[in-house]
Amino acid sequence: MLNTKGNKITYFGHATFSLTTASGSVGIIDPFITNNPRCPAELKKVERVDVIFVSHGHGDHLGDLVQLAKEHKAKVVGMPELCGWLATKGVEKQGAEMNKGGTQRVGEFSVTMTHAFHSGGIEDGGKIVYGGEAAGLIIRMPGGFTIYHAGDTCVFGDMKLIGELYAPDVAMLPIGDHYTMGAREAAYAVKLLGVKDVIPMHYGTFPVLAPNAEEFKIECAGIAGLTIHALEPGESLGGAAGKSSAAND
Ligand code: NI
Ligand code: MN
Repeated sequence: MLNTKGNKITYFGHATFSLTTASGSVGIIDPFITNNPRCPAELKKVERVDVIFVSHGHGDHLGDLVQLAKEHKAKVVGMPELCGWLATKGVEKQGAEMNKGGTQRVGEFSVTMTHAFHSGGIEDGGKIVYGGEAAGLIIRMPGGFTIYHAGDTCVFGDMKLIGELYAPDVAMLPIGDHYTMGAREAAYAVKLLGVKDVIPMHYGTFPVLAPNAEEFKIECAGIAGLTIHALEPGESLGGAAGKSSAAND
């Protein structure tokens, strides 16, 4: 049973999650909300966000970033190039730029950027703007609860290093295939990371992606002690009362 230490993870569909601490601070990872076909209506209106974490500059991860950052005066954690682009959109003072390997504290969250193997251009007015490299995110929440959000990536051997160095309590891994790992690669990533709790993501959003997590579950069948939390958009893990926890292995 995953102990979130009073923190709550809510899935918005695709690669978008909110992280809520026991005291009510809210972080959002890759805020693809308005145009996210899997995001339920009740999550479309964001009531509070203190920190936005962005793995890379693709539209299905940037999503509502500019509008949300402005509306909520949220800090934005991203690559220097991405934060630089953000400044050209009128969000000058909120960038909390960083790069791979480093750690910074932003509000109640501590974040480290890791490798991800993917591209990272920002589509802006018909042009592609360099947004820095694609990254993964290690996010530590109060109580030491640690999340690895892999961003968009293929599987890579240094996931073993990420598992050893940061010992994430839960990993959010893309399983949708085509643009990222598919089921087979993601199952291998689980083994490299050595995590016991996984939330599959980046599937079922568009016709080109794997429609569900069934194949991923089959590929993971031989991994001892693993719990796959295949959250439906709108479902949460953890939280003060532990309510609306969803798990299926
Ligand atoms: Ni991408
Ligand atoms: Mn993507």
